[in-house]
Amino acid sequence: MPRCIPEPYKIKMVEPLQVTTREYRQQCMEEAGYNTFLLKSKDVFIDLLTDSGTSAMSEVQWAGLMRGDEAYAGSRNFDHLCEAVEEILGYAYTVPTHQGRGAEHLFFQNFVQAGDVVPMNMYFTTTRQHAELAGGVFQDVIVDEAHDPASKCLWKGNVDLEKLRALVDKYGPERVRMVSMAPNVNMAGGQPFSLANLKEVRQFCERRGIRIFMDITRIAENAYFIKEREEGYSDWSVRDIMREICAHSDGAWMSAKKDGLVNIGGFLAFHKGQEELFERCRRMVVVYEGLHTYGGMAGRDMEALAIGLGEVCDADYLAARVSQLRLLHGMLDEEGVPLVHPCGGHGVFLDAQAFLPHLDQDLFPAQMLAAQIYMEGGVRSMERGNVSAGRDPESGQNRRPPLELVRLTVPRRVYTQTHMEYAAESVIDVFRRRERIPGLKFTYEPEVLRFFQARFEPVTPTR
Ligand code: F0G
Repeated sequence: MPRCIPEPYKIKMVEPLQVTTREYRQQCMEEAGYNTFLLKSKDVFIDLLTDSGTSAMSEVQWAGLMRGDEAYAGSRNFDHLCEAVEEILGYAYTVPTHQGRGAEHLFFQNFVQAGDVVPMNMYFTTTRQHAELAGGVFQDVIVDEAHDPASKCLWKGNVDLEKLRALVDKYGPERVRMVSMAPNVNMAGGQPFSLANLKEVRQFCERRGIRIFMDITRIAENAYFIKEREEGYSDWSVRDIMREICAHSDGAWMSAKKDGLVNIGGFLAFHKGQEELFERCRRMVVVYEGLHTYGGMAGRDMEALAIGLGEVCDADYLAARVSQLRLLHGMLDEEGVPLVHPCGGHGVFLDAQAFLPHLDQDLFPAQMLAAQIYMEGGVRSMERGNVSAGRDPESGQNRRPPLELVRLTVPRRVYTQTHMEYAAESVIDVFRRRERIPGLKFTYEPEVLRFFQARFEPVTPTR
């Protein structure tokens, strides 16, 4: 098999990047309080902070922008979006939102009641926040392997049926009214679930009248892994697998900034039978997002998204994307850098706890590792560990999640192989001097979603 699968597209327009010195980057990092979210984009050479809203759009999407119908009500682009959602994903009803968390807000406020238990295949920051704001109690029901970076399990996104059963036995289906499953679980390292697992969860839930709502933010990448790995699906198109995934849910929300291949946008979508919930969300969207035919997106954004949903199903594009990620993963693995295995679908995740074993988790090793990688080579990554997990609302202590990770997230259709090689070298250079890296402590800690705006200063561990 070739080591690399070339991208099925070529570059038409370029955006210059600024080369900086180490001294300059050190100063930038100090000014940013050791938080990569607080850096200015102009000071970043290769931006692997996130795959969210950072995709390069195709010529067809750019042409679609020119066809934006910016009418306040009843834009034709909204019809195109609804058609794409129905044709590709099979959902009959769509509520547009400005991005994923807008959809989460509407969904949880309208479905979850105070005291409801909300099982998910691992948490995502904004999803859990919205579930909790609605009075829900998050419970993790992902398989144990997902919490072990070294485990090479191919389906780390799967739900552990026994964990789910135990929850339902304990609280009853009156309090466990829904299960949320996300394809290519972000916080686990972009790890997929299998269709076999989804079907089992569905069967379990159906018998008890529990609904399944999915976070389909990275559905195409999960569908690609199913095509590649799961028995019986190699002849299926990615599009048919995506539709099949959605068929086993009652509804979904999507941050379209990822597999929608757009820079902004999101939506909630429901199958027939969920009319009541759909109507409630549609009534609420006008309060928080915009009219129910644009939900915070411009007409042109909806057009680009309708096109992007079709483009992301291309198996050749997905093969090239996964191959690029595997190249980066392989280069780091060869040098012994501790990683999450297997390589995920949207980024390469470093095991910061194993990378910096001399730092206690409350000295935020992943936060510091991300800062060091930036100072080394101007490569921006993101902490996905103790800072992101926040504090337990009851004990007030840091949650100290089992995964203390740094995410090198690869934007879609943006960077070349040489960029990946350069990013790998920057990480490897930090790895070679890892023993001398100090920890961090907060100088400013926001109450909610603290990772976005927190500030830190270095602190040397006392032994
Ligand atoms: N769900 C998942 C699985 C996500 O990864 C995100 C965003 C959201 C929901 C929220 O969507 O950003 O459009 O409001 N993830 C970004 C990331 C921020 O970098 O992983 P949003």
